[in-house]
Amino acid sequence: MQSRLVYMDHGATTPVRKEVVDSMLPFFHDQYGNPSSLHAPGRKVRQALDEARETTARALGADPEEIYFTSGGTESNNIALRGAAKKQKGGGHIITSSIEHHAVLDVCRDLENEGFKVTYLPVDHYGCIEPEMVKEAINKDTFIISIMAANNEIGTLQPISEIALLAREHGILFHTDAVQVVGQLPVDLHSSNIDFLSLSAHKFNGPKGIGALFMRKGVEINSLYRGGSQERKLRPGTENVPGIIGLGRALELAVSDIPHKKKRLESLRDSLIAGLLQIDDVVLNGHPRQRLPGNINVSFKYIEGESVLLGLDMEGIAASSGSACSSGSLEPSHVLSATGLDHSIAHGSVRFSLGWGNCKEDVDFVLQKAPLIVERLRNISPTYHSR
Ligand SMILES: Cc1ncc(COP(=O)(O)O)c(C=O)c1O
Repeated sequence: MQSRLVYMDHGATTPVRKEVVDSMLPFFHDQYGNPSSLHAPGRKVRQALDEARETTARALGADPEEIYFTSGGTESNNIALRGAAKKQKGGGHIITSSIEHHAVLDVCRDLENEGFKVTYLPVDHYGCIEPEMVKEAINKDTFIISIMAANNEIGTLQPISEIALLAREHGILFHTDAVQVVGQLPVDLHSSNIDFLSLSAHKFNGPKGIGALFMRKGVEINSLYRGGSQERKLRPGTENVPGIIGLGRALELAVSDIPHKKKRLESLRDSLIAGLLQIDDVVLNGHPRQRLPGNINVSFKYIEGESVLLGLDMEGIAASSGSACSSGSLEPSHVLSATGLDHSIAHGSVRFSLGWGNCKEDVDFVLQKAPLIVERLRNISPTYHSR
């Protein structure tokens, strides 16, 4: 009987920390007032909400008025990109990359259908975007550049500061989808040239369905919604109060621990990478060093990543192939394809993403099971035998 669960899918989502749940609970039963109400129960909740906004802003080096709570990364990306596009009269040009999350790519495709021009920048073999290419892509119609801070599949970190500076020098807005970075690496928005940043609480041990958009003071976009005046009309609707309280607490806890957590995860990550590369015909996807502290993405040649996942799952190890959103699709990952990886090798990719609860024993357990699973699958793989 399988007894332990080794959860290595923190890139998909993370468990909510007990302290976070505890901070949220009173807002379901005792403090249930509507923060827009003028009475005492409403005012009390408004105060808690304001405090959560301050905590969130402090953790990001921003001002509270620059934080807009949303339902998560997807909505934050939509509000920033569509909102900036809506403000443009008569079209314009957007620069993004070919390895963005679908929450950016699909929005850009829609905007193309509406008449906007979009440049999807290529990446190198490691999934890195070259700032010089961004510079070359800028034209007189470019109004926004959107480049993710770190890729969710292969973990590659992008030169965001350089690209944001380029955007600023050209008077162009800069948005970054930092869903995979916030809570993992330090972020200081006031010392940066970032105009919009998207984050999502469930990636840093907070609740699902709550996130935020940072929008720099002075930047103006059009709201996508009509309704109330919550979140300064950018995201109207009664606030998800327990979610916002949980986001603030989770972010506060996550950033207080970054240096220690980063070092610990990087060490576990590097041991797992080194161990997996001991297996024959395994390649590392993404950059060897410039990658998220907890991200490991490897391809097992001659077998399917999905089969490896099932084998791991039977041993109580939870990992993923590609991104959680696109797993189940037969198309190779758009990210791995963009790095120039052969389709057959891309199909053999597995992502292990480490987080708060993982320890050395988890890494040892994976390294004990993975070679056996790979060997069993290769024994029945026609491509392995005809290689
Ligand atoms: C890079 C990136 N952007 C956006 C999202 C979507 O975030 P959410 O699930 O909060 O909508 C994810 C989630 O996997 C992500 O990894």
